[in-house]
Amino acid sequence: MNENKNLDFLLMKYKFALKMLQAQIEILVEEFENQHGYNPVEHIKTRLKTKKSIEEKLKKKGHSFTTLNVLKYVKDVVGVRIVCSFLTDVYDFVTMLSCSKNILVKEHKDYIQNPKKTGYASYHLLVLVPIYLQDEVEYMECEIQIRTSAMDFWASLDHKISYKFAKQIPEEIEKEMYACSLIMKELDKKMLELNQIMNKYKVENEYS
Ligand code: GTP
Ligand code: MG
Repeated sequence: MNENKNLDFLLMKYKFALKMLQAQIEILVEEFENQHGYNPVEHIKTRLKTKKSIEEKLKKKGHSFTTLNVLKYVKDVVGVRIVCSFLTDVYDFVTMLSCSKNILVKEHKDYIQNPKKTGYASYHLLVLVPIYLQDEVEYMECEIQIRTSAMDFWASLDHKISYKFAKQIPEEIEKEMYACSLIMKELDKKMLELNQIMNKYKVENEYS
């Protein structure tokens, strides 16, 4: 097989992995909903990196566009973003994915406990997802980002304001974005508290 065909085959395998992962996440969400009586997810976004975007990422990192380099250096060809309602839902989801027999977690990055210096907060998992080919099972690496709506709001706007900006971002903007991330953190804490108070209130009212 020539290298171009190899690359197409590899991208097809990533597409299969995304399908497997999506199906598994749907199962976990429904099972959670059945057990807890509410859906912990606000929305889920998935994307498969395009050939062009993979090539650009490799180029930026100083590598040529080969199947081996994609496997070695591009860990987010498959990207899944799970946006949860409350902070506790994020960690419940991490636990569910870690316990799932269908997905192997290779790496945890907790940017909620340890935010990036930009202020970026999110929980990242690098997982291995099995795909069942005609005569073998292969494990594909996929990136899952789990965050709250507030974190998602901050990250989406940061992406537009500064993340992909090639030059140095003015210090004032950096500072302000970081300050906004602290507000986003406070908001998450407050919303969780309000939900917990309401849950208690609902239980008390049920039994009175
Ligand atoms: P990449 O080579 O960029 O993928 O970095 P990495 O492999 O070290 O992974 P990392 O854990 O930094 O996560 C990268 C992903 O997290 C990015 O593709 C973004 O989606 C997200 N991310 C990381 N830092 C920021 C940030 O400061 N702002 C925003 N908006 N997103 C970020
Ligand atoms: Mg990445």
